[in-house]
Amino acid sequence: MEVSSNLYLVVYGTFLSLLLGCGSLGCTEQEKVGLLQLKASINHPNGTTLSSWGGEVGDCCRWEYVTCDNRTNRVIRLSLNSTRDFDLGEWSLNASLLLPFQELRNLDLSGNYLTGIQGLLRLKRLRVLNVGGNDLTIIPILSALPSLKVLGLQDNHINSSQLQGLKKLRVLDIGWNDLRTLPILSALPSLKVLNVEGIHIDSSQLQGFYILTLIKSCLCKLNLEVLDLSSNGFEGSLPACLNNLTSLRLLDLSINDFSGTIPSSLFSNLKSLEYISLSNNHFEGSIHFGSLFNHSRLEVFNLMSNSKDLKVETENPTWSFPLFQLKILQLSNCSLNWPSQVVPNFLLNQYDLRVVDLSYNYMIGSVPTWLLDNNTKLEYLSFRGNSLTGVLDLSSNSRHSHLFLLDFSSNSIHGELPPFIGSIFPRLGFFNLSGNALQGNIPSSMGNMDLLESLDFSNNNLSGQPPEHMMMGCISLVLLKLSNNSLLGTLPTKSNLTQLKYLFLDNNDFSGKISHGFLNSSYLKVMDISYNSLTGQIPDWIGDFSALRSLSLSRNHLDGAVPTGFCKLSELRFLDLSHNKIGPTLPPCANLTHMKFLHLESNELTGPIPHVLAEATSLVTLNLRDNKLSSPIPPWISLLSSLRALLLKGNQLEDSIPLHLCQLKSISILDLSHNHLSGTIPFCLDNITFGREDPLMDDAFITDEVSYSEFSTIQFQDSQISVYTTLGMIFEVSAESEEIEFITKSRLESYMGNILYFMSGLDLSGNQLTGPIPPKIGNLSGIHTLNLSYNQLIGSIPQTFSNLKETESLDLSHNGLTGQIPPQMVELNFLTVFTVAHNNLSGKTPERKFQFATFEQSSYEGNPLLCGPPLERSCTPTCAPPAVKLPVSNNRENSSWEAIFLWSFGGSYGVAFLGIVAFLYLNSYYRELLFYFIEKHVRFLQLWG
Ligand SMILES: *[C@@H]1O[C@H](CO)[C@@H](O)[C@H](O)[C@H]1NC(C)=O
Ligand SMILES: *[C@@H]1O[C@H](CO)[C@@H](O)[C@H](O)[C@H]1NC(C)=O
Ligand SMILES: *[C@@H]1O[C@H](CO)[C@@H](O)[C@H](O)[C@H]1NC(C)=O
Ligand SMILES: *[C@@H]1O[C@H](CO)[C@@H](O)[C@H](O)[C@H]1NC(C)=O
Ligand SMILES: *[C@@H]1O[C@H](CO)[C@@H](O)[C@H](O)[C@H]1NC(C)=O
Repeated sequence: MEVSSNLYLVVYGTFLSLLLGCGSLGCTEQEKVGLLQLKASINHPNGTTLSSWGGEVGDCCRWEYVTCDNRTNRVIRLSLNSTRDFDLGEWSLNASLLLPFQELRNLDLSGNYLTGIQGLLRLKRLRVLNVGGNDLTIIPILSALPSLKVLGLQDNHINSSQLQGLKKLRVLDIGWNDLRTLPILSALPSLKVLNVEGIHIDSSQLQGFYILTLIKSCLCKLNLEVLDLSSNGFEGSLPACLNNLTSLRLLDLSINDFSGTIPSSLFSNLKSLEYISLSNNHFEGSIHFGSLFNHSRLEVFNLMSNSKDLKVETENPTWSFPLFQLKILQLSNCSLNWPSQVVPNFLLNQYDLRVVDLSYNYMIGSVPTWLLDNNTKLEYLSFRGNSLTGVLDLSSNSRHSHLFLLDFSSNSIHGELPPFIGSIFPRLGFFNLSGNALQGNIPSSMGNMDLLESLDFSNNNLSGQPPEHMMMGCISLVLLKLSNNSLLGTLPTKSNLTQLKYLFLDNNDFSGKISHGFLNSSYLKVMDISYNSLTGQIPDWIGDFSALRSLSLSRNHLDGAVPTGFCKLSELRFLDLSHNKIGPTLPPCANLTHMKFLHLESNELTGPIPHVLAEATSLVTLNLRDNKLSSPIPPWISLLSSLRALLLKGNQLEDSIPLHLCQLKSISILDLSHNHLSGTIPFCLDNITFGREDPLMDDAFITDEVSYSEFSTIQFQDSQISVYTTLGMIFEVSAESEEIEFITKSRLESYMGNILYFMSGLDLSGNQLTGPIPPKIGNLSGIHTLNLSYNQLIGSIPQTFSNLKETESLDLSHNGLTGQIPPQMVELNFLTVFTVAHNNLSGKTPERKFQFATFEQSSYEGNPLLCGPPLERSCTPTCAPPAVKLPVSNNRENSSWEAIFLWSFGGSYGVAFLGIVAFLYLNSYYRELLFYFIEKHVRFLQLWG
């Protein structure tokens, strides 16, 4: 019976097409004309798209993007997505152009710069309409589409919509719009799929309210199968009525501000769930993963928690045989199995996993490498930031041919890398084992990884020389990071890393001359070989790395001149050659126009400050400390108008401090100490900001230009509900963060990252400056550190010093200052270091209150005429007046100088301060930030026509 009816259909079909083929030659004339008119409209005024329409092929059913019913030859589908040329700009469609297509079932006009549709779309049979990705602000009245089942309005600027009358609508996608009022969803009784991802509702106040009304008043009454509320900023706790959506297959609540607990009934009721994402919210309390174990269809579970306030328990009950086989499991930064911290047991029974991300969970135990063996389709495995121990126990005869990313970084894995490690992951693109305790050599087999783009083995105890096979074989490497190990030998003498952009070999024991082994890497942007034992000169061919933006060779034993080849490096932004023996000067041809951070400190530069620097007008930091520079500070210094830090300490600069310096208004750290400067302190120094204004959080100290952020994705298609999951990876490597050392509060502190915006200081100590302190110095109200010690200054301490409200450290010792200490200075509430020792001050010491109660004798000693506590000399003339001593000479008592500078400030202040440094360090300056995200695209394939 069935056979014969099928046979009949085939025969009938063939007969009909023969008949029609001979007769009307395909599509109807009316529709053909209609299509050409539509083409003209899409091309208005002078586009060239759909060029094949109307050409040699007469049958419009065979035209591109047109589908006809093969029986009636009427047009049933028009796939005109992304057809209009970009340069033609916006466009508006006259709905009457679609009237010839009365059999149309499926119309796709997405991505066409459409701003409006005029008139009513009268298409009685239309089942699928997609106008997403246009510039529509309003949609035409849709009630003329009685058969509509699928409506795509996503990614427009629609702010109101009229959806009444769409009794058959099953799929509605209104994500990424500017909806002010949500459409009346209760008018859509058949709705199964709802996507409101990333809708923009103006007032943040309303958001919490909207979600509650939306969910309670209509969503919970629908029989939804797909509900995507992600990326909306919705607030508040989850309404309990979500439990009623028992048909849900996909629930995405990610990237919102939902808070409170996740009711356990939610999981136990929604038995049809296939895809759950709860990532990036503010949930707290605990989740019992076991309540999902009966969900036989579950494939994707994403929970990337914003805080550790949410606990996820997988072991209680200890039953570990879930009915599901997961494909994607992301449980990141949640207090997984606290306090037992064990690796979830149920994973032992999973064999279909593609993505496993259990990062940042403090998990303990040995590395669960069995996951790799059990799940042969695994593409992505991250245990970053746990406390896993043991050795990397991989089996030599396994081959993980799907694995693309492997990240075990920041754990406590020890032992040697298996010698075959490079052979068992043939497709690996991202490999990160940094921050462990790995030892031994890097295996030669690494060279078999010819698809590897990013390799990070930094911060381990690896030794030996990087194998030549790796340098020749890893031909896809973009990032190679081997910092902070004990690698030794010479730098590779040959390599074939032609894609390499970021190279970090710093903090190892490489020695010998800089070899030209990386010369094939012509895209190199960042090279850091600092903190090694390299010798010889900087080679001339360094100039062949013409894309280089950041170069650090500091703390080696390099000597000799900077080669002229250097002058070809016109892209350089960051150069650190400090702590070598480089000199005597810079090549006059150097191209420094883009240079922002120049560190040449502790080298052997001699003569005047190199004139070539006059062109470095982008410079933010110029550090020439501890060289042998002489001559006066040149007047052209005022051209460097972007300077924030000018550090010239420890040279032999002479003559007076030029007034030109006062034109460098943006400076916040100026260190001219320990030179041979003479004359008076310029009265105009208060022209310079020194942090007085609110810190300008501009990009001055940002070294982003040398950061690496490449983007890679893996896509998964989930068979059951057609969810595409895109897994993105952004590797961001801030190549070098700017770091400045400055003596404050009598000790050397190192500042980097954002904190640089808040540091300000002036250090003129250890020169031969004479004359009085200009009272205008008291206008530097934002300055944190002021050091004028070890000069020959005379006169009194200006009264204006009581305005130095932000000052933490003030050192006026070892001068010839006279007169009283202004008593108002006790109001300086941030002062933690204060010394006026070894001057010729007289009168009473400041009252012992506030910060001044903490200063001891040493702050005042060596001033024979000074009296009052904490000095033993009392001011009341009951006893005989103290014998007058001669003023102390400036260069005496070096031992007490030492004492002051090594005086360490213990106590809570110091600790708190270091805490801030560490905090800012961690926040603003990740040497490397690895950022994964999962994005999904729900494609409603089965329902879509
Ligand atoms: C269309 O016209 C504009 C303005 O006259 C012109 O710039 C553009 O090149 C033309 N485009 C085509 C595809 O001819
Ligand atoms: C006609 O189209 C239907 C589905 O649209 C298909 O199943 C059938 O095989 C087609 N017949 C011919 C003769 O192409
Ligand atoms: C239009 O959409 C279909 C699927 O809906 C896709 O296969 C095709 O590539 C798209 N065309 C363009 C030009 O983007
Ligand atoms: C959820 O379903 C239960 C039982 O069917 C019903 O009593 C309750 O009112 C529903 N809740 C909401 C908010 O619709
Ligand atoms: C996974 O590996 C573990 C340890 O080797 C083993 O006990 C378990 O049976 C494996 N599970 C599956 C599903 O293969």
